[in-house]
Amino acid sequence: MNYKITKIIKRKSKQPIVCLTAYSKSIATILDKYCDIILVGDSLANVLYGMKSTNKVSLEMMANHAKSVMQGVKKSLCVVDMPKGTYDTPKSAIKNARYLLKVSKCDAIKIESNNKNFKIIKKLIESNISVMGHIGFTPQYKKKFKVQGLNHKQENQLINESIQIEKEGAFSIVLEGIKTNVAKKITSIIKIPTIGIGSSIFCDGQIIVTDDMIGLSGFYPKFVKKYANISKVIEKAVKKYDTEVRKKIFPTKKNSF
Ligand code: KIV
Repeated sequence: MNYKITKIIKRKSKQPIVCLTAYSKSIATILDKYCDIILVGDSLANVLYGMKSTNKVSLEMMANHAKSVMQGVKKSLCVVDMPKGTYDTPKSAIKNARYLLKVSKCDAIKIESNNKNFKIIKKLIESNISVMGHIGFTPQYKKKFKVQGLNHKQENQLINESIQIEKEGAFSIVLEGIKTNVAKKITSIIKIPTIGIGSSIFCDGQIIVTDDMIGLSGFYPKFVKKYANISKVIEKAVKKYDTEVRKKIFPTKKNSF
């Protein structure tokens, strides 16, 4: 197993695991100093491409962004999302995951659970491909955001799903939009780290979409804290540039040859 993954697993219940998303070298270079895991998430569909859902993301798109991100990564573990429809059968999952890993040189892939595709994880692991699971609100399979684990039936299903994903060999699981007590229970039951997004402080680590937390995407659901307002910073710079070009203040001699 990749030494970075072993290190992540050992952090379970000891030291919180810091994760964020990146889609490009420039952002990955900044995140790499602080993050344990950088995820090239298929959320790039909404965030970068303005798509309504993540379902139209192609393998090529993920491979290209992962390649860019890996140029900025020195120490973090880099995980890439497999797009919907690229891991429906063991054969396609292995072929497509190998392609992503080969092209980008990332460390692992993430697949969303539909509560049926546990065998896919097993087959990927048997092919020496490291897998991160993803349960709860899984955008590839559930259309509208809804908190997960609200009743006993859902709670049991989520617990069984996480146990099954661990059993098949995943090294960690993203818990998305899961009720606090259920996320806490899952985290205490399974031995691999849970990475929460909108799933409370009781997970072993946290992830959010970087563009949301820096105020670039304009998307601020309850589970996102806005740590910066980068849109404002960019706007201020662009406004100044606009004025200076119109007034012929820029470029100066210093910027010329
Ligand atoms: O696609 C993504 O960015 C994700 C995270 C939100 C977990 O799956």
